Amino acid sequence: MSLPPGFLDELRTRTSMAQVAGRKVLWDNRKSNQGKGDMWGPCPFHHEKTASFHVDDRKGYYYCFGCQAKGDAISFVRETENVSFMEAIEILAQEAGMEVPKQDPRAQEKSDRRTLLAEVMEQAVQFFRLQLRRGVAEEARAYLARRGLDEGALERFEIGFAPAGWENLREHLKGKGVPIDLMLGAGLVKASDKGREPYDVFRDRIMFPIRDGRGRAIAFGGRAMDPNDNAKYLNSPETELFDKSRNLYNLRPARESSGKGQPLVVAEGYMDVIALSEAGFTASVAPLGTAVTEPQLQLMWRISDEPIIALDGDKAGLRAAYRVIDLALPLLEAGKGLRFAVMPEGKDPDDLLRAEGPDAVRQVLEAAMPMVQLLWRQETEGKVFDSPERKAALDKLLRARIAKIQDPSLRHHYGQEIKELRFELFRPKRGGTGPRTPWQKRDWKAPPPPSEGAKTSLLVAGGEGAETMLREAVVLGAILSAPEVAAEFESELEAMPCSDGQISILRDVILRSIGAEDRMRLNAEEAIGAQALESLLSARHLQVVPCIRRPGDADLSRMTVAEELAKLEAQQGWQTELSEAEEDLEDLADEALTWRLGQAAQARAQAGRMNEEDDAEFDIGPNGAHVDKSERSAFDSLLSQIRFDKAKR
Ligand code: UTP
Ligand code: MN
Repeated sequence: MSLPPGFLDELRTRTSMAQVAGRKVLWDNRKSNQGKGDMWGPCPFHHEKTASFHVDDRKGYYYCFGCQAKGDAISFVRETENVSFMEAIEILAQEAGMEVPKQDPRAQEKSDRRTLLAEVMEQAVQFFRLQLRRGVAEEARAYLARRGLDEGALERFEIGFAPAGWENLREHLKGKGVPIDLMLGAGLVKASDKGREPYDVFRDRIMFPIRDGRGRAIAFGGRAMDPNDNAKYLNSPETELFDKSRNLYNLRPARESSGKGQPLVVAEGYMDVIALSEAGFTASVAPLGTAVTEPQLQLMWRISDEPIIALDGDKAGLRAAYRVIDLALPLLEAGKGLRFAVMPEGKDPDDLLRAEGPDAVRQVLEAAMPMVQLLWRQETEGKVFDSPERKAALDKLLRARIAKIQDPSLRHHYGQEIKELRFELFRPKRGGTGPRTPWQKRDWKAPPPPSEGAKTSLLVAGGEGAETMLREAVVLGAILSAPEVAAEFESELEAMPCSDGQISILRDVILRSIGAEDRMRLNAEEAIGAQALESLLSARHLQVVPCIRRPGDADLSRMTVAEELAKLEAQQGWQTELSEAEEDLEDLADEALTWRLGQAAQARAQAGRMNEEDDAEFDIGPNGAHVDKSERSAFDSLLSQIRFDKAKR
């Protein structure tokens, strides 16, 4: 479409580049010289803290010394608002009080009608606002006051009142000469199916005008005064002006505030947006009576790289968030993300503000979690992954969801993040600094045989399998030497992966005998045979363990069991990591694997350190018992011997 000659020049002279850019840029007052039209600020096109963005207001152009972005007011609007050339012209022309000439007569006609509709809407806004000041609105005003809205808020949000009755607005507009056709087209009145005159859509409602990004009134949201009304909120129908999926409540003010550095907050309701804005979170928006739509997400991302979705702290809020994730995944791009702030139980942002004030809301917003975390929560919350089948099902689900991300680099990073979360969930909890945590219940018996790749790994050199089995035997032997300690280790024993059938049987016997400890030994003899038990306990490697050599010392047994379990656990954790890492090796050789192997090595080192600690002069048991070093180290030196023998073979 061609514009008449001179139009653009005229537009440029009437437009201040500094003013246009000033909506997005916070000028550095020290560096800038307003009088000369020489303005500096942090660049809106790339992230920076310094002021490399320069505007020469007299010449009407900008240049960023950081990212080399440059252009004039039109390109600035195009870039920052993500609009077409003609749309940018329209925006600037409107602000400069100029009319963009139309050439296509049909487009002209259409835009004329839209202008007319917008004018009718504007008249309705004024009518409703006037009604709020009248006697009929006494109850409505009291209600709004109870909800904490003062005069200033009513003013800023242009809140009005539609009185009860079927023809208040219609008659008012008719009196102003507005044809009924325009009232219908604006969605303010509805045709009667009983052959009567069209009637007012909004009756006995508090009215929230909805404006588009250019500030034109395009719709209303009306909240029922009558708590028994079928629709708590009634929104304007879709019209030539109003496409509810492509607009947001409070869009224009929020865009301005966001440009000044406020975080963009997306709430669920009109009242939330108003309450948030009044509390200082002025870049707040809400969808218009529907779930968030794709065009709305795009709109948000044009305003902010990382909008914060503020969720009501209830099931519905969480469901809404999950829908947003579904919508957002295929649209994600590098640098464009979402965060989710979950309000406390049962509260929406408005509730929280009124109950606890702006600081509480600020805290919730600051704690907003990245989308990947909520995605993880969605797939794992309330579920138990206690079998390989369930874990595999989770993996499959997560893989499918991440596959929706189009951007390959972003998809990769989501995969990494998920793997770390998955690792946290599945990794066997190790002993150490915190309170002793038992293994997660595992349903596998023997550790899987090392794969070809793993066999060559340094990590496995040294016969871990044999060592594991010996330690397990020591645990059981130590318990049998002082059966009263068994109960203290019940859960750990239950979770202990037994590397041998006999050990597994003995373990089960011990567990079954808890509560009847004096029969434990007898039960064990019955289970595997008196001779087998005898030869197990008198085996060379068990006889070097003091508490087994001298049965009946509960303290000594307790300490031995605790210690051997801790070592086993660290070792076991490492083996699990290794076998899980092997699975991953097949499809991905990546950072997560390196990281995981690093963790495994750490666990291994930790187990090693425990061995080293044995070399200290004394070991101090959980109850403070001191044990002679020479006795304590006997078992471990035996293990080293076994390792050494094996290495020689
Ligand atoms: P809520 O019922 O959570 O709104 O609905 P709210 O803002 O918290 O309401 P009050 O005034 O504090 O009680 C959230 C949004 O869902 C839409 C509206 O856009 C509302 O702001 N909605 C809700 C409807 O469109 N119709 C309804 O009947 C209810
Ligand atoms: Mn509410």
